[in-house]
Amino acid sequence: MKKIFKRIFLVLAIILIVLVSFVLSSWNKKFDVSMPDIKASTDSAIIARGKYLVYGPSHCATCHIPMEKYNDVEKGEQIPLSGGWELDIPPGIFRAPNITPDNETGIGKYTDGQLARALRFSVKHDNTTLFPFMPYQEMTDEDLTAIISFLRSQKPVKNKVKRSELKFLGKALSAFGLLEPEKPKNITQKTIYRDTTKDYGKYLANVIANCYGCHTERNVKTGEFIGKPFAGGFVMKEKSKGLTFITPNLTPDNETGVIAQWNKKAFINRFRQGPIYEFSPMPWGAFSRMDENDLKALYEYFASLPAVKNKIEKTIYKNDEELPD
Ligand code: HEC
Ligand code: HEC
Repeated sequence: MKKIFKRIFLVLAIILIVLVSFVLSSWNKKFDVSMPDIKASTDSAIIARGKYLVYGPSHCATCHIPMEKYNDVEKGEQIPLSGGWELDIPPGIFRAPNITPDNETGIGKYTDGQLARALRFSVKHDNTTLFPFMPYQEMTDEDLTAIISFLRSQKPVKNKVKRSELKFLGKALSAFGLLEPEKPKNITQKTIYRDTTKDYGKYLANVIANCYGCHTERNVKTGEFIGKPFAGGFVMKEKSKGLTFITPNLTPDNETGVIAQWNKKAFINRFRQGPIYEFSPMPWGAFSRMDENDLKALYEYFASLPAVKNKIEKTIYKNDEELPD
């Protein structure tokens, strides 16, 4: 008997060693993804559009700043994008880099193509893959150009941010091909007409402002989308704050949709108001700076969605409260 156990143990130990050495020898992958043909401009209208997106609907400024500045950004200050925001999760410790044009610690030496590739394909300047925090893959060429033009126009700030580090889980995801560059799912457009229709609202909600990524239920471990679009139910733990948030249903279902009973004016006013709950992960501050046009378009888009019945009892829980199933 004993001998058999010994053998089984030995076989398992060998399998484990093989797996671990496979992961450790093959996680650090480089990807050969070509760079989009995007060139920064010095036209002031284009730079202004980029600035609007960065500090408003695309909310780059809620991550690419020092952690302790978060509240200032939420209040409306335009803090330089010198990086530092950090998130410690099971796959790794991720840090948003300095994206001011400093040559040593920022993006000064990266080409426009490298920056465009980071946003459209999630490939880092050194050809490794970025962890998927930035779902802007289908941004139009025009908006991508505007953002990069604005990044180039900033004053350089020297601030060295440590690189992100993958933990064993993240390395295993990478080794087994589960962490790869992203791709636009549809053909990317050169430009889009910015009116107040639901079509422009769709672009804002899905591509620019990422309402989709937070307001659709996802598997908390893998990030995979498992719920109906915009029907809410994504669980976001803010451990250090002792809080858990569950996103509400944004579809126009009369019983369970939070905005179903709001008219356009109420919707716009809610966005102008900013956060109600302290530590809400929703970038309310950035969104409160969206212009009237964009808020109207978003309203039209949400009103046009199919209604999905999905009751979200409550959106904020203290960590000692029991979460719903
Ligand atoms: C939710 C937080 C978050 C938001 C919002 C965000 N970023 Fe990032 N960004 C990160 C993190 C974290 C990394 C590093 C990821 C990694 O190391 O895998 C990163 C990496 C980058 C890089 C890669 C630089 C390189 O090394 O090649 C660029 C460029 C960038 N972000 C620009 C932007 C821009 C522009 C926006 C807005 C349009 C934006 N980010 C919005 C968190 C964010
Ligand atoms: C980073 C995650 C995140 C993103 C991005 C996000 N939300 Fe939210 N949203 C939340 C969370 C969490 C809550 C619940 C806590 C709260 O009300 O602040 C919420 C609440 C709401 C509410 C209910 C507010 C109330 O007072 O009842 C509305 C409406 C809403 N979001 C709309 C949107 C729209 C529209 C977008 C895109 C423009 C968006 N959200 C993007 C996480 C997000």
